[in-house]
Amino acid sequence: MQAGMDTGTAYGRPRPTYRRDLTEVSAGTPMGELLRRYWHPVALSTDAGTIPCRVRALGEDLILFRDGRGRPGLLYPRCAHRGTTLYYAKIEDRGIRCCYHGWLYDVQGHCLEQPCEQGGGPRRDKVRQPWYPLEERYGLVFAYLGPPDKKPLLPRYDCLEELAPGEFVEPDDSSIGSGGPLIAPCNWLQHWENVVDPFHVPVLHGSFSGAQFTALMGIMPKVEFSTTARGVKVESWRELDGGQVHHRITEAVCPTLRVVPNPRVASYQKVESLGWVLPIDDTHYRIYTAGRVTERGGLQEIRSRQGGKRWDELTPQEQRQFPGDYEAQTGQGEITFHSEEHFAASDKGVALLRRFMENQLMVVAAGGDPAGTAFAEADACVRFDAGNYLIESAARSPA
Ligand code: FES
Ligand SMILES: [Fe+2]
Repeated sequence: MQAGMDTGTAYGRPRPTYRRDLTEVSAGTPMGELLRRYWHPVALSTDAGTIPCRVRALGEDLILFRDGRGRPGLLYPRCAHRGTTLYYAKIEDRGIRCCYHGWLYDVQGHCLEQPCEQGGGPRRDKVRQPWYPLEERYGLVFAYLGPPDKKPLLPRYDCLEELAPGEFVEPDDSSIGSGGPLIAPCNWLQHWENVVDPFHVPVLHGSFSGAQFTALMGIMPKVEFSTTARGVKVESWRELDGGQVHHRITEAVCPTLRVVPNPRVASYQKVESLGWVLPIDDTHYRIYTAGRVTERGGLQEIRSRQGGKRWDELTPQEQRQFPGDYEAQTGQGEITFHSEEHFAASDKGVALLRRFMENQLMVVAAGGDPAGTAFAEADACVRFDAGNYLIESAARSPA
């Protein structure tokens, strides 16, 4: 080496790589198979209607509809006859009728009619249009894309079941919490990890973007991270004037739940809403939300970015000048290069979450049932710790 030579230049750096096992979601991949052991919201209940609706989830294109008897259905789009898409189909009382030769399928893919065949198709029982099970709850349509013999119960969540007088549960499909448009062009994990990254709050949301939430959230917190039975929990303490302490608990819950109390801290209570990060494919995600509100549209109040504007109301200059979660996470690239990361102590939540998910991958690979999958009604209600709480004495915060 020449004396005085600068090292560490960008020249000759290693080719960057990412963790395929943690990020990729197609069927047959490790994470794709783990995610397929859970129910995921794929639409609002109101989207399932008499017009076939395109759905893309976990890298699969599907068609959602609701038959004339009110049953929602989710089918593989390519008709089992000769493969045209059911997007152009008509919905009838008993199911969905392909536009090309009129084969009629019910919500479980049974072929009920083949009108071009003698006698309506005596061999129609031999055909099954690929389908997935659906359930509706909280105004959302949940789909199970996994192995039928491993299908868990659709969980209930305490924060959406225990309502105060005047409260009701509102669904939302506008990707609340992403800080950006409906569909974000990056890997789902980049967003989900952010849930357990409390130190970005005073920086990204408290100084770069101005006080995006409240002045309170701009205070650098004391933080503790822990792994729970269902994911990773972050506790943040902020000292308030007068000796009170704001105790905030946020959770990332397997498979993709964001359990994030209102960052505007409108009141001190258990978490108000749940977000499900839906991996659309390896490089796109969106968020479905359900939350307790007292007025229709109440969930939208937590969407604003800069100066009360939503992301789509900001100019490109404002988006650059006042970056939020959307800019920071899409700024990591379509799938971030894990080989180029340098973790510090403040990244402990992200490290714990990756380890938690690695363990779940191993459970599934070994033939087990991953965290939080319940098969008996008594186990299917989830209680969260998350919320914004006010505690009286600084003595309860860590040193
Ligand atoms: S391609 Fe659908 S009925 Fe022929
Ligand atoms: Fe954020």
